[in-house]
Amino acid sequence: MSDRPILLIHASQLLTLREEPVPRRGSEMHDLGVINDGALLMSDGKIVSVGTTDEVSRNDLAAKAEEFDCRGKVLLPGFVDSHTHPVFIAPRLVDFEKRIAGAGYEEIAEAGGGIRSSIRGVREASVEELAEHVLQSLREMAAYGTTTMEAKSGYGLSLESEIKSLKAISLAAQQWPGTIVATLLGAHVVPPEYREDPETYVDLVCEQMIPSTAEHRLATYVDVFCERGAFTPAQSARVLSTAVDHGLKTRVHVCQLTAAELGPLLRFHPASLDHMDFVDDADIPGLANSDTVATLLPAANYFLGLDKFPPARRLIDNGVAVALATDYNPGTSPTTSMPFVLSVACTHMKMSPAEAITAATINGAYALGLQGSKGSLVHGKDADIAIFTAEDYRELAYWFGVNRCERVFLRGLRG
Ligand code: NIG
Ligand code: FE
Repeated sequence: MSDRPILLIHASQLLTLREEPVPRRGSEMHDLGVINDGALLMSDGKIVSVGTTDEVSRNDLAAKAEEFDCRGKVLLPGFVDSHTHPVFIAPRLVDFEKRIAGAGYEEIAEAGGGIRSSIRGVREASVEELAEHVLQSLREMAAYGTTTMEAKSGYGLSLESEIKSLKAISLAAQQWPGTIVATLLGAHVVPPEYREDPETYVDLVCEQMIPSTAEHRLATYVDVFCERGAFTPAQSARVLSTAVDHGLKTRVHVCQLTAAELGPLLRFHPASLDHMDFVDDADIPGLANSDTVATLLPAANYFLGLDKFPPARRLIDNGVAVALATDYNPGTSPTTSMPFVLSVACTHMKMSPAEAITAATINGAYALGLQGSKGSLVHGKDADIAIFTAEDYRELAYWFGVNRCERVFLRGLRG
């Protein structure tokens, strides 16, 4: 925590995202709560005051504060990247080249590439080595404006290596001033040694990984990849039900490659259903009436060279709460950049810049259960702030392939 209060003044635009309603749905996603000539005062890691420069400067604490002039800058809540897989060792360059030469994601996986090819690196690494890799990605994310992230295990796929991956997340979290929410993704795919007997692997996830994760408080969420070539709806339901029985919350990778019925998954009240490329129209009203967020991950579509992108318009226009995240991982989305995700969401999914910013801040915070402390710039919330070199918030999604994030504050600390 900083000793002196910090005062940011004269921002071209300060995006408060305001308080209510959370999550934002439909036209509510357009209101960013923009303050021109905006200012923000923070102290002890918390936001003390937000308003115009005139208003905030009148606060008693302002006189003692260290002051930053933010002319020509847009200030907004730090991005909440609510879906990432940072616990891996090596990039997947062979798969990358194979795909360029025409191979598909599932074809590569069947040939021993894909998720399974990241297992060895994680199993052989120490917890410290893994933590160093996670930390590297956290620093990169902060450089692009992210101050909170969800981090999944999922490349160890044995009891020991999944627990080690979660410990690496926790070790990295202790060395980063931002906020990390951990997720057990033991049910990512069936590892090769259980190929002939996937049910026994599901037993391992349910009887050992989930209980051990819960007992040692290593994760808040349990995720499962419910997909052809990964886990069936019945296996996924078993994983989710076990998670709930152990007091853990849930989220699901679903509809990435094929359609799946969402009703049976919604029974577990997952915090989010992620990817959703193949969501069926018939499932949309049920989703819109639930508290579950659809987390869209278009950087994966971009990197896989797909023509099709997640159906943001269909979801938003029908009242589904939508978040955007990077899906940072070595197979389908090797990027830590939320601004890149905003760009793709606007150009390929026809989200407006305001919708994209809402999806990447307050709705992402809601998808992690952190709407009380993250995702908007209001009095009392954590001082998680991203400062971009821009006059207008639309520039955040407009410039791409360059980094215009000038600085972040993570719980009041300079990143
Ligand atoms: O979200 N779909 C499953 N998991 C990741 C891909 C992981 C990988 O290929 O390593 C995803 O796209
Ligand atoms: Fe993912």
